[in-house]
Amino acid sequence: MITTPFSFFATVSSVVRCGATPILVDIDPATLNLDPEATERALQRARSYKLRAVMPVHLYGQCANMDRFARLAEQYDASLVEDAAQAFGAKWRDKKAGAMGKAAAFSFYPTKNLSAYGDGGCVTTNDEELAAHVRRLRNHGSRQRYYHEEIGWNSRLDAMQAAVLRVKLRHIDDWNQARRLLARRYQGLFISSGLVHSGTQLVSAQAPIALLATMPEAYHIYHQYVVRAFRRDELRAFLTQQGIGTEIYYPVPLHLQECFTYLAYRAGDLPESERASTEVLALPMFPELREDEQQRVVAAITEFYSR
Ligand SMILES: Cc1ncc(COP(=O)(O)O)c(C=O)c1O
Repeated sequence: MITTPFSFFATVSSVVRCGATPILVDIDPATLNLDPEATERALQRARSYKLRAVMPVHLYGQCANMDRFARLAEQYDASLVEDAAQAFGAKWRDKKAGAMGKAAAFSFYPTKNLSAYGDGGCVTTNDEELAAHVRRLRNHGSRQRYYHEEIGWNSRLDAMQAAVLRVKLRHIDDWNQARRLLARRYQGLFISSGLVHSGTQLVSAQAPIALLATMPEAYHIYHQYVVRAFRRDELRAFLTQQGIGTEIYYPVPLHLQECFTYLAYRAGDLPESERASTEVLALPMFPELREDEQQRVVAAITEFYSR
Protein backbone atom coordinates (compact mmCIF):
# COMPACT_ATOMS: atom_id res chain seq x y z
CA MET A 1 0.00 0.00 0.00
CA ILE A 2 1.44 3.34 -1.03
CA THR A 3 1.14 6.13 1.52
CA THR A 4 2.94 9.13 2.97
CA PRO A 5 5.60 9.12 5.70
CA PHE A 6 4.62 12.65 6.71
CA SER A 7 1.61 11.90 8.86
CA PHE A 8 0.58 10.61 12.25
CA PHE A 9 1.92 7.15 13.11
CA ALA A 10 -1.47 5.44 12.66
CA THR A 11 -1.42 6.07 8.91
CA VAL A 12 1.35 3.53 8.54
CA SER A 13 0.69 1.29 11.55
CA SER A 14 -2.81 0.59 10.23
CA VAL A 15 -1.27 -0.70 6.99
CA VAL A 16 1.05 -3.01 8.91
CA ARG A 17 -1.78 -4.15 11.21
CA CYS A 18 -3.84 -5.35 8.27
CA GLY A 19 -0.92 -7.44 7.06
CA ALA A 20 0.14 -5.20 4.18
CA THR A 21 3.50 -3.59 3.49
CA PRO A 22 3.67 0.19 3.43
CA ILE A 23 5.50 1.71 0.46
CA LEU A 24 6.37 5.22 1.60
CA VAL A 25 6.48 7.93 -1.02
CA ASP A 26 7.62 11.53 -0.59
CA ILE A 27 5.42 14.61 -0.26
CA ASP A 28 4.78 17.69 -2.35
CA PRO A 29 6.78 20.47 -0.63
CA ALA A 30 4.07 23.05 -1.41
CA THR A 31 1.24 21.32 0.48
CA LEU A 32 3.05 18.53 2.38
CA ASN A 33 0.48 16.08 1.02
CA LEU A 34 1.47 12.85 -0.74
CA ASP A 35 3.07 13.77 -4.07
CA PRO A 36 1.16 12.36 -7.08
CA GLU A 37 4.29 12.45 -9.30
CA ALA A 38 6.34 10.48 -6.80
CA THR A 39 3.37 8.12 -6.37
CA GLU A 40 3.23 7.52 -10.10
CA ARG A 41 6.94 6.68 -10.15
CA ALA A 42 6.38 4.21 -7.31
CA LEU A 43 3.43 2.68 -9.17
CA GLN A 44 5.58 2.21 -12.25
CA ARG A 45 8.10 0.34 -10.13
CA ALA A 46 5.35 -1.70 -8.51
CA ARG A 47 5.73 -4.67 -10.81
CA SER A 48 8.06 -6.19 -8.25
CA TYR A 49 5.32 -6.39 -5.61
CA LYS A 50 1.58 -6.77 -5.53
CA LEU A 51 0.15 -3.32 -5.15
CA ARG A 52 -3.28 -3.16 -3.57
CA ALA A 53 -4.01 0.38 -2.57
CA VAL A 54 -2.97 4.01 -2.45
CA MET A 55 -3.80 5.96 0.71
CA PRO A 56 -3.32 9.72 0.64
CA VAL A 57 -3.72 11.62 3.90
CA HIS A 58 -5.63 14.92 3.80
CA LEU A 59 -2.99 16.58 5.94
CA TYR A 60 -3.89 19.52 8.18
CA GLY A 61 -7.40 19.62 6.65
CA GLN A 62 -6.47 20.00 2.99
CA CYS A 63 -7.41 17.21 0.61
CA ALA A 64 -4.62 15.59 -1.34
CA ASN A 65 -4.88 15.97 -5.11
CA MET A 66 -7.77 13.56 -5.56
CA ASP A 67 -8.07 14.09 -9.33
CA ARG A 68 -4.58 12.69 -9.72
CA PHE A 69 -4.95 9.92 -7.15
CA ALA A 70 -8.30 8.75 -8.54
CA ARG A 71 -6.79 8.53 -12.02
CA LEU A 72 -3.69 6.71 -10.78
CA ALA A 73 -5.74 4.23 -8.76
CA GLU A 74 -7.84 3.42 -11.80
CA GLN A 75 -4.89 3.17 -14.14
CA TYR A 76 -2.96 0.84 -11.82
CA ASP A 77 -5.98 -1.08 -10.59
CA ALA A 78 -5.43 -0.14 -6.96
CA SER A 79 -8.01 0.80 -4.33
CA LEU A 80 -8.05 4.40 -3.23
CA VAL A 81 -8.32 4.75 0.56
CA GLU A 82 -8.47 8.12 2.31
CA ASP A 83 -6.95 8.93 5.67
CA ALA A 84 -9.41 11.73 6.42
CA ALA A 85 -8.58 11.88 10.15
CA GLN A 86 -7.75 15.59 9.90
CA ALA A 87 -10.30 16.57 7.31
CA PHE A 88 -13.87 16.37 8.56
CA GLY A 89 -15.83 18.71 6.29
CA ALA A 90 -12.98 19.34 3.87
CA LYS A 91 -13.68 19.07 0.15
CA TRP A 92 -11.90 18.49 -3.12
CA ARG A 93 -13.95 20.33 -5.75
CA ASP A 94 -17.53 19.48 -4.71
CA LYS A 95 -16.69 16.16 -3.06
CA LYS A 96 -16.29 15.75 0.65
CA ALA A 97 -13.26 14.13 2.20
CA GLY A 98 -14.22 10.57 2.97
CA ALA A 99 -16.50 10.25 -0.07
CA MET A 100 -13.87 9.85 -2.76
CA GLY A 101 -12.22 6.50 -2.16
CA LYS A 102 -13.25 2.93 -1.55
CA ALA A 103 -13.14 3.69 2.14
CA ALA A 104 -11.96 6.44 4.45
CA ALA A 105 -11.06 6.74 8.11
CA PHE A 106 -11.91 9.68 10.37
CA SER A 107 -10.69 10.38 13.87
CA PHE A 108 -12.64 12.14 16.62
CA TYR A 109 -9.67 12.28 18.99
CA PRO A 110 -9.97 15.38 21.23
CA THR A 111 -7.53 17.50 19.16
CA LYS A 112 -9.53 16.98 15.97
CA ASN A 113 -11.79 19.63 14.43
CA LEU A 114 -14.77 17.39 15.14
CA SER A 115 -13.76 15.91 18.45
CA ALA A 116 -15.28 13.71 21.08
CA TYR A 117 -14.56 14.00 24.81
CA GLY A 118 -12.40 10.91 24.49
CA ASP A 119 -11.43 8.59 21.68
CA GLY A 120 -13.62 7.91 18.70
CA GLY A 121 -13.57 7.56 14.96
CA CYS A 122 -15.43 6.21 11.99
CA VAL A 123 -15.03 4.55 8.65
CA THR A 124 -16.99 5.69 5.61
CA THR A 125 -17.63 3.67 2.46
CA ASN A 126 -20.25 3.28 -0.25
CA ASP A 127 -19.58 -0.43 -0.45
CA GLU A 128 -22.30 -2.36 1.46
CA GLU A 129 -20.20 -5.46 1.85
CA LEU A 130 -17.22 -3.55 3.14
CA ALA A 131 -19.49 -1.62 5.55
CA ALA A 132 -20.81 -4.89 6.95
CA HIS A 133 -17.27 -6.20 7.31
CA VAL A 134 -16.09 -3.07 9.16
CA ARG A 135 -19.14 -3.24 11.46
CA ARG A 136 -18.19 -6.80 12.31
CA LEU A 137 -14.52 -6.01 12.84
CA ARG A 138 -15.31 -3.23 15.34
CA ASN A 139 -17.21 -5.73 17.44
CA HIS A 140 -14.69 -8.57 17.85
CA GLY A 141 -15.47 -9.92 14.40
CA SER A 142 -18.95 -10.85 15.51
CA ARG A 143 -22.35 -10.26 13.94
CA GLN A 144 -24.25 -12.33 16.44
CA ARG A 145 -23.23 -12.17 20.07
CA TYR A 146 -20.73 -14.90 21.06
CA TYR A 147 -20.35 -16.14 17.49
CA HIS A 148 -17.12 -14.95 15.89
CA GLU A 149 -16.51 -15.29 12.18
CA GLU A 150 -13.11 -13.63 12.40
CA ILE A 151 -10.87 -11.84 14.88
CA GLY A 152 -11.75 -8.18 15.17
CA TRP A 153 -11.30 -5.52 17.82
CA ASN A 154 -13.21 -3.79 20.58
CA SER A 155 -13.59 -0.66 18.51
CA ARG A 156 -17.16 0.46 19.01
CA LEU A 157 -17.93 4.16 19.28
CA ASP A 158 -19.26 4.39 22.81
CA ALA A 159 -22.62 6.03 23.35
CA MET A 160 -21.27 8.89 25.48
CA GLN A 161 -18.87 9.94 22.73
CA ALA A 162 -21.58 9.53 20.11
CA ALA A 163 -23.85 11.85 22.10
CA VAL A 164 -21.16 14.55 22.24
CA LEU A 165 -20.38 14.19 18.55
CA ARG A 166 -24.03 14.34 17.58
CA VAL A 167 -24.35 17.78 19.16
CA LYS A 168 -21.04 19.05 17.78
CA LEU A 169 -21.92 17.82 14.30
CA ARG A 170 -24.51 20.59 14.03
CA HIS A 171 -21.78 23.21 14.41
CA ILE A 172 -18.92 21.74 12.42
CA ASP A 173 -19.60 23.62 9.18
CA ASP A 174 -19.60 26.96 11.02
CA TRP A 175 -16.45 26.02 12.92
CA ASN A 176 -14.69 25.02 9.71
CA GLN A 177 -15.76 28.27 8.09
CA ALA A 178 -14.36 30.19 11.09
CA ARG A 179 -11.04 28.33 10.74
CA ARG A 180 -10.88 29.33 7.07
CA LEU A 181 -11.36 33.00 7.93
CA LEU A 182 -8.68 32.77 10.60
CA ALA A 183 -6.27 31.16 8.12
CA ARG A 184 -6.89 33.98 5.67
CA ARG A 185 -6.20 36.49 8.44
CA TYR A 186 -2.93 34.75 9.41
CA GLN A 187 -1.91 34.84 5.77
CA GLY A 188 -2.55 38.60 5.57
CA LEU A 189 -0.67 39.22 8.80
CA PHE A 190 2.32 37.17 7.64
CA ILE A 191 2.48 38.85 4.27
CA SER A 192 2.42 42.31 5.79
CA SER A 193 4.99 41.28 8.42
CA GLY A 194 7.69 41.01 5.75
CA LEU A 195 8.73 37.57 7.06
CA VAL A 196 7.50 35.73 3.99
CA HIS A 197 9.01 35.68 0.54
CA SER A 198 5.87 34.78 -1.36
CA GLY A 199 5.75 31.69 -3.52
CA THR A 200 8.82 29.95 -2.13
CA GLN A 201 8.92 26.98 0.17
CA LEU A 202 12.50 27.68 1.22
CA VAL A 203 13.12 29.46 4.49
CA SER A 204 16.17 31.60 5.16
CA ALA A 205 17.36 34.42 7.42
CA GLN A 206 15.88 36.89 4.90
CA ALA A 207 12.53 35.10 4.55
CA PRO A 208 12.23 33.08 7.74
CA ILE A 209 8.59 32.00 7.36
CA ALA A 210 7.10 30.13 4.40
CA LEU A 211 3.36 29.59 4.06
CA LEU A 212 2.05 26.30 2.71
CA ALA A 213 0.10 26.34 -0.54
CA THR A 214 -3.64 25.83 -0.76
CA MET A 215 -4.75 24.15 -3.97
CA PRO A 216 -7.54 25.99 -5.80
CA GLU A 217 -9.65 22.79 -5.88
CA ALA A 218 -9.35 22.32 -2.11
CA TYR A 219 -11.82 23.51 0.49
CA HIS A 220 -9.21 23.50 3.24
CA ILE A 221 -10.65 23.37 6.76
CA TYR A 222 -7.39 24.19 8.56
CA HIS A 223 -7.51 21.46 11.09
CA GLN A 224 -4.06 22.88 11.76
CA TYR A 225 -2.49 26.13 10.60
CA VAL A 226 1.09 25.17 9.82
CA VAL A 227 3.97 27.26 8.51
CA ARG A 228 7.59 26.45 7.77
CA ALA A 229 9.98 28.33 10.01
CA PHE A 230 13.72 29.06 9.87
CA ARG A 231 15.39 28.04 13.19
CA ARG A 232 12.10 26.40 14.05
CA ASP A 233 13.03 24.93 17.41
CA GLU A 234 14.42 28.23 18.74
CA LEU A 235 11.33 30.04 17.52
CA ARG A 236 9.12 27.50 19.23
CA ALA A 237 11.00 27.89 22.54
CA PHE A 238 10.63 31.68 22.28
CA LEU A 239 6.88 31.42 21.63
CA THR A 240 6.50 29.04 24.56
CA GLN A 241 8.20 31.64 26.78
CA GLN A 242 5.67 34.19 25.53
CA GLY A 243 2.82 31.88 26.51
CA ILE A 244 1.96 30.98 22.91
CA GLY A 245 1.25 27.30 22.38
CA THR A 246 2.57 25.62 19.23
CA GLU A 247 3.02 22.03 18.10
CA ILE A 248 5.15 20.10 15.64
CA TYR A 249 3.26 17.80 13.31
CA TYR A 250 5.49 15.79 12.81
CA PRO A 251 9.06 15.83 14.18
CA VAL A 252 10.07 12.39 12.86
CA PRO A 253 8.85 11.15 9.48
CA LEU A 254 7.42 7.67 9.71
CA HIS A 255 10.11 5.96 7.59
CA LEU A 256 12.63 6.93 10.29
CA GLN A 257 10.60 5.67 13.27
CA GLU A 258 12.38 3.02 15.28
CA CYS A 259 9.56 0.49 14.97
CA PHE A 260 9.72 0.67 11.16
CA THR A 261 13.48 0.02 10.94
CA TYR A 262 12.62 -3.32 9.36
CA LEU A 263 11.18 -1.50 6.35
CA ALA A 264 14.82 -0.55 5.63
CA TYR A 265 14.45 3.12 4.76
CA ARG A 266 17.36 5.43 5.54
CA ALA A 267 17.76 9.11 6.28
CA GLY A 268 17.89 10.89 2.93
CA ASP A 269 15.46 8.51 1.20
CA LEU A 270 12.46 10.88 1.41
CA PRO A 271 14.08 14.32 1.55
CA GLU A 272 10.99 16.53 1.42
CA SER A 273 9.40 14.72 4.35
CA GLU A 274 12.65 14.97 6.26
CA ARG A 275 13.03 18.70 5.55
CA ALA A 276 9.42 19.35 6.52
CA SER A 277 9.93 17.57 9.83
CA THR A 278 12.65 20.11 10.73
CA GLU A 279 10.68 23.19 9.62
CA VAL A 280 6.96 22.81 10.32
CA LEU A 281 5.28 24.63 13.17
CA ALA A 282 1.55 24.62 13.94
CA LEU A 283 0.29 27.92 15.31
CA PRO A 284 -2.77 28.46 17.50
CA MET A 285 -5.91 27.59 15.49
CA PHE A 286 -9.39 27.07 16.89
CA PRO A 287 -12.70 28.64 15.86
CA GLU A 288 -12.79 31.05 18.84
CA LEU A 289 -9.29 32.48 18.22
CA ARG A 290 -9.51 36.29 18.27
CA GLU A 291 -7.96 38.80 15.90
CA ASP A 292 -5.84 40.41 18.64
CA GLU A 293 -4.54 36.96 19.59
CA GLN A 294 -3.50 36.29 16.01
CA GLN A 295 -1.81 39.67 15.87
CA ARG A 296 0.04 38.80 19.04
CA VAL A 297 1.25 35.50 17.56
CA VAL A 298 2.59 37.15 14.40
CA ALA A 299 4.10 40.05 16.39
CA ALA A 300 5.94 37.60 18.63
CA ILE A 301 7.30 35.73 15.60
CA THR A 302 8.39 39.05 14.06
CA GLU A 303 10.10 39.98 17.32
CA PHE A 304 11.97 36.68 17.41
CA TYR A 305 13.44 37.18 13.95
CA SER A 306 14.33 40.83 14.53
CA ARG A 307 16.46 40.13 17.62
C1 LIG B 1 -3.61 11.61 9.77
C2 LIG B 1 -4.06 10.76 10.93
N1 LIG B 1 -4.31 9.46 10.74
C3 LIG B 1 -4.74 8.68 11.74
C4 LIG B 1 -4.95 9.18 13.00
C5 LIG B 1 -5.38 8.23 14.07
O1 LIG B 1 -6.54 8.56 14.67
P1 LIG B 1 -6.90 7.90 16.08
O2 LIG B 1 -5.81 8.29 17.01
O3 LIG B 1 -8.22 8.46 16.42
O4 LIG B 1 -6.93 6.43 15.85
C6 LIG B 1 -4.69 10.53 13.26
C7 LIG B 1 -4.88 11.17 14.59
O5 LIG B 1 -4.70 10.80 15.65
C8 LIG B 1 -4.23 11.33 12.20
O6 LIG B 1 -3.97 12.64 12.40
